[in-house]
Amino acid sequence: MTDMAAKSEQLYTDSDAVRIVWLCGSSTTLPHLWLRDNCSCSDCRIAQTDEKRFLISSVPADIAPVSVTLVDDQLLLVWPDGHRSTFSGEVLRSYGSADADPLSPWPPDYRPTRCDYRSFLDDDAAAASTIARFIAYGAMILKNAPTAPGTLEQLAPRLGPIREVLFDRIHDVAVDASGYNVAHTALPLPPHNDFASYTWPPSVQALHMLANETPGGDSIIVDGWAVLAALRADHPDHFDVLSRVPVPFREFDEDTETFASEPIIRCNSDGTVAGLRFSNQLMQAIDPNDPGAQDFYHAYRELCTRVTNPDSQVSFRLNGGEILVVAAHRVLHGRQGFEPTGRRHLQDAYFELDNVRNHLVVLRRTGRALP
Ligand SMILES: [Fe+2]
Ligand SMILES: [Zn+2]
Repeated sequence: MTDMAAKSEQLYTDSDAVRIVWLCGSSTTLPHLWLRDNCSCSDCRIAQTDEKRFLISSVPADIAPVSVTLVDDQLLLVWPDGHRSTFSGEVLRSYGSADADPLSPWPPDYRPTRCDYRSFLDDDAAAASTIARFIAYGAMILKNAPTAPGTLEQLAPRLGPIREVLFDRIHDVAVDASGYNVAHTALPLPPHNDFASYTWPPSVQALHMLANETPGGDSIIVDGWAVLAALRADHPDHFDVLSRVPVPFREFDEDTETFASEPIIRCNSDGTVAGLRFSNQLMQAIDPNDPGAQDFYHAYRELCTRVTNPDSQVSFRLNGGEILVVAAHRVLHGRQGFEPTGRRHLQDAYFELDNVRNHLVVLRRTGRALP
């Protein structure tokens, strides 16, 4: 190891990485291949598009710089072919701390963020702060919305584009004797996410109440990730089974057939939860001969008990002119049963969370909203 301290930062190089101990005491380890791959010079990137041009396969696996210096917070490397790379210390220190919009657990008295519908569409600052809270908590309500069918189309500039699925682009939910789904009855609807029958179910769902003139039918939301965190703490074996065993889900009608077989829990590569897929009504029989069927059912029963426990649920009445929006891979939605004595008409549309995040980033980038 060589110590080439500059301005009292500590710089070490070994056979496959450069390590810097910064003035603040934190350290960054930079593999040689990473340093070569991330060179930002005009030969290694396409200036017009700010995309990478350099291909990592063009250098040997054991490439190492012939010179490394750290001067005025700039890391300078010279490679064996004479190529030079420069990195800003400020940028190098920012890796690992980029934490765009942290997920927040729900406090005990949680209620979704509420924003006036017109403000959400017309006021960039109000939209940005509402979207940021939506991303953190997974739910929001837009109030004072029109009660005209198709209103959800208007949300596309803030949340969209609309994610279309089979069935209708804007989906009507009302009591309908010919409906293909329990939502078209007056029965209670246990917490679920829609279209578990897609390999990638819609990650955002908007539920627009056009009219709610029936007794009962309160809306229910559940922070599915909080349920999974508690399940993981109490029964790591159950969590493991539910993240491994594929489960078939089907949604269909006379003209349409959607089917996916996926585990109920989806994790990121670091093991954190990325998605919950839960739909009692769409779930199909797993193969009872599967040697894991017994374990699966114990785990699934425990999860179902927790999802349907009133202590996990936040419920409220969604009135005509209110739009509930949920981050659907995290937050489950449902409703209590109701007396079909008056009009009750809901419309659903779907969006994708990646696109919602994009709108927030662009609002902030253009200075139309506070960071
Ligand atoms: Fe639903
Ligand atoms: Zn370069």
